[in-house]
Amino acid sequence: MERRKIRWDARGAHVAVVGATGAVGREMVHCLDALKFPVREIDLLASSRSAGKQLETPWGTKTIVDADAFDFSGVDIALFSAGKSVSLALSQRVLDAGALMIDNTSAYRRDPAWPLVVPEVNGDLVRLESIIIANPNCSTIQMVLALKALEDAVGIEDVRVATYQSCSGAGQKGIDALITETKHALEGKRDAVSAVHARGIAFDVVPQIGPMLPSGFTEEEEKMMFETRKILGREDLRVCATCVRVPVIRSHSEVVSVVTKREISVAECEAILDDMPGLRVTDRGNAGSYPTATQAEGIFDTLVGRVRKDPVTPKGLIFWIVSDNLLKGAALNAVQIACLAWAQGKDGKVA
Ligand SMILES: NC(=O)c1ccc[n+]([C@@H]2O[C@H](COP(=O)([O-])OP(=O)(O)OC[C@H]3O[C@@H](n4cnc5c(N)ncnc54)[C@H](OP(=O)(O)O)[C@@H]3O)[C@@H](O)[C@H]2O)c1
Repeated sequence: MERRKIRWDARGAHVAVVGATGAVGREMVHCLDALKFPVREIDLLASSRSAGKQLETPWGTKTIVDADAFDFSGVDIALFSAGKSVSLALSQRVLDAGALMIDNTSAYRRDPAWPLVVPEVNGDLVRLESIIIANPNCSTIQMVLALKALEDAVGIEDVRVATYQSCSGAGQKGIDALITETKHALEGKRDAVSAVHARGIAFDVVPQIGPMLPSGFTEEEEKMMFETRKILGREDLRVCATCVRVPVIRSHSEVVSVVTKREISVAECEAILDDMPGLRVTDRGNAGSYPTATQAEGIFDTLVGRVRKDPVTPKGLIFWIVSDNLLKGAALNAVQIACLAWAQGKDGKVA
């Protein structure tokens, strides 16, 4: 694939948000503004179902455009969050237009040709002249922030994680399903279950996200294990994930157990995690102040708590990580990548 022509412009970038009406897309628009990304022009794209609808943005009222009919010429950065099939179908048109594609879907994460980036972890892979940059799975992003901090400080050997993932991880329809099924359950209609989550989610906990695979793991678990190794550049890292959907609207929570190469104390571990950009330990010296899902909602930082020694192994540590899956788990991470890429032009590194 040919390298794109760089079109850095001091007035800012022409941005396209594909999937702008979705749970992640709406947050992308919010994050572009919150991070003061220099937007010269913005186009909001979705399916033909939403074409013609209007959305208020910090750059005025915008009319949603059908992505299929959109001409990407002139776009500098295209942020995609409209599902894997849309990314695969439209990527060639984006690339032909010479834009940088930052993709939130699983379409390109496994492809060795494209970097999989969490800016605080491997942001050095971001170039304005990159062609596609993949944004990792939401549950992976929050965990690799902590793992990178420990890897750099003391080295890590094994990782086990159990997730408690919110319903917004399945998009707006995931939230709607939780609310509708909960209302029905309260009316005694426990059988009124949508097909969005693997099982009915009202008042239940479901140990399946994505299809079950022959390995016995689910697709979400395989994504977490693969992506963690790719982002950390540690093909040898032993990672074991169990991913669970819980009846929470927003923010994913995780219990992470790590075996480090050198034994460290709880205080040392807390200091290492708290020093990591994007991570904040909320209960240092105040045991009750661990983070919860509702507390993490709308917050850019990933929150950590309950750091403790694993009694099973001397080099083992266990902690609790909570992050807003629609922000750091998706939109914020993608916009941070856009900021990094654009800043290279601003700093004169890209002519
Ligand atoms: N939710 C998360 O926590 C999260 C985290 C990381 C990554 N992701 C990924 O981000 C993507 C979007 O997730 P979401 O949670 O925002 O889902 P969502 O709430 O269901 O939104 C989907 C968006 O895609 C648009 N869309 C659907 N079909 C389309 C088509 N054929 N052409 C153009 N646009 C189309 C929808 O437009 P209409 O309104 O017109 O239907 C909507 O804007 C998915 O690939 C997901 O895996 C999600």
